[in-house]
Amino acid sequence: MTDERLDTVAIITDGNGRWATKRGLIRSQGHVAGAKRIQPVLETFRRIGVHNVIMYAFSTENWKRPKDEVDTIMKLIYKYLVDVVEDMIKTDKEFCIKFIGDLTPIPEPLKSKCIEVENMAKDRAFTCSVALNYGGRDEIVHAANAAHAAGHETLTEEILSKYMYTGTTPDPDLIIRTGGNFRVSNFLLWQGAYSEYVILDTLWPDFDDAAIMKAVGEFYTRSRRFGGLDR
Ligand code: FPP
Repeated sequence: MTDERLDTVAIITDGNGRWATKRGLIRSQGHVAGAKRIQPVLETFRRIGVHNVIMYAFSTENWKRPKDEVDTIMKLIYKYLVDVVEDMIKTDKEFCIKFIGDLTPIPEPLKSKCIEVENMAKDRAFTCSVALNYGGRDEIVHAANAAHAAGHETLTEEILSKYMYTGTTPDPDLIIRTGGNFRVSNFLLWQGAYSEYVILDTLWPDFDDAAIMKAVGEFYTRSRRFGGLDR
């Protein structure tokens, strides 16, 4: 199934903690299981013709979690970049990664590793954007300040869009939230203005091809009008 209508997908990867708790495991083990899902999910979206996947790895609000859990997530992301992503960028000429969010408070060595892997390759056929210390409100304020600093006195949607962390990545056609909660959680507030939302009960570590097809199938039942009328 390939359709140019589904070019960019964003995912709120929720449910790792509940997945672990249900199995009598500690929450961090849910994040370990969650990290293992990333590569197969990217491969499936690629196979069906998607060019950009934006994943919510860590929000500006996630620092409120216990330090142990925050440390585990940071270490997991580092390990994932070293063990999986670097190799993918080297061997797969169509894959690159970018980070969206404010990396300033990200601990070392993760922060340097993010910059390093992002600089390994850019503008390839398939981009995975990882939202790290990302908040939609923070992004809008950051973009407005950056545009102002660059000398723009009057802002337009086009100007502000250019200064978003997402840069040239298209706005998501589809935003999937796993874990069953109906909220936006400060994710892509600007870019999601006309995205189709699909909420699945599936917990992120269980987000397999069947769940992907359910979300994509739901997307294709929608009639996107962007505020206009059906033609
Ligand atoms: C939400 O589940 C998940 C997170 C806050 C962390 C997700 C991060 C990873 C899977 C690692 C990402 C790595 C890369 C390279 C992208 P939750 O803990 O809020 O689950 P709950 O709602 O069941 O408590």
